[in-house]
Amino acid sequence: MTEGKINSRDERWSLKGKTALVTGGTKGIGHAIVEELAGFGAIVHTCSRNQTELDQRLDEWKTKGFQVTGSVCDVSHRDQREKLIETAASLFQGKLNILVNNVGTGILKNATEFTAEDVSKLMATNFESAYHLSQLAHPLLKASGNGSIVFNSSISSVMAFPSCALYASTKGAINQLTRNLACEWAKDNIRANTVAPGFTNTPLLDAFTFLLSV
Ligand SMILES: NC(=O)c1ccc[n+]([C@@H]2O[C@H](COP(=O)([O-])OP(=O)(O)OC[C@H]3O[C@@H](n4cnc5c(N)ncnc54)[C@H](OP(=O)(O)O)[C@@H]3O)[C@@H](O)[C@H]2O)c1
Repeated sequence: MTEGKINSRDERWSLKGKTALVTGGTKGIGHAIVEELAGFGAIVHTCSRNQTELDQRLDEWKTKGFQVTGSVCDVSHRDQREKLIETAASLFQGKLNILVNNVGTGILKNATEFTAEDVSKLMATNFESAYHLSQLAHPLLKASGNGSIVFNSSISSVMAFPSCALYASTKGAINQLTRNLACEWAKDNIRANTVAPGFTNTPLLDAFTFLLSV
């Protein structure tokens, strides 16, 4: 292979100069997404609820030479989502190329046992957060001229697993939202896609496994 071809392939897979917002980047899958995007040259902003852990991750990323900033945000709260997008708009001069709606959590119970609070909490964290952040980010994604939204769904959105009725329903809603946004926002040059991971070794899976074992 000639040197020219290698360079062209490197450029083809580069995200140099692209801007990205990844929710929940301090642990698990979100952490890997931040590292992958930053490794390809993207300028990334991420969030989580824990300032101390966020600061630790930011230090590590700085040492690795990645361009990553972060701010505390609980994405289940509407006002905090608005603040997060204001921060991203300011950092990225009003243009966002990539929004990764990664945050999600689970409550595992028999379907008869979920409370109204469980439903509100999971819908707010897993579905409403992703929908509202996409709405808020729409002008920034459009302004970039080449926007992409990635939702983190789950294999449980298409298969029935024990104790997962509520979690799976929030993820099923994300799958359909993806289809609608992909159609509605294509005219704005914004793509929408969902990944639906299987079991992935993260702190969330550890918590699920523990709950299912007791
Ligand atoms: N692991 C799996 O097997 C699996 C399989 C399929 C799909 N998924 C999906 O993949 C996504 C990531 O899962 P994961 O396993 O990587 O989870 P995880 O290990 O629990 O990590 C979640 C990340 O999001 C942050 N976070 C959680 N709740 C938040 C909130 N309300 N506001 C802001 N940040 C929040 C966490 O930090 P703080 O807690 O400090 O805020 C952490 O950085 C989720 O949507 C999950 O449903 C996971």
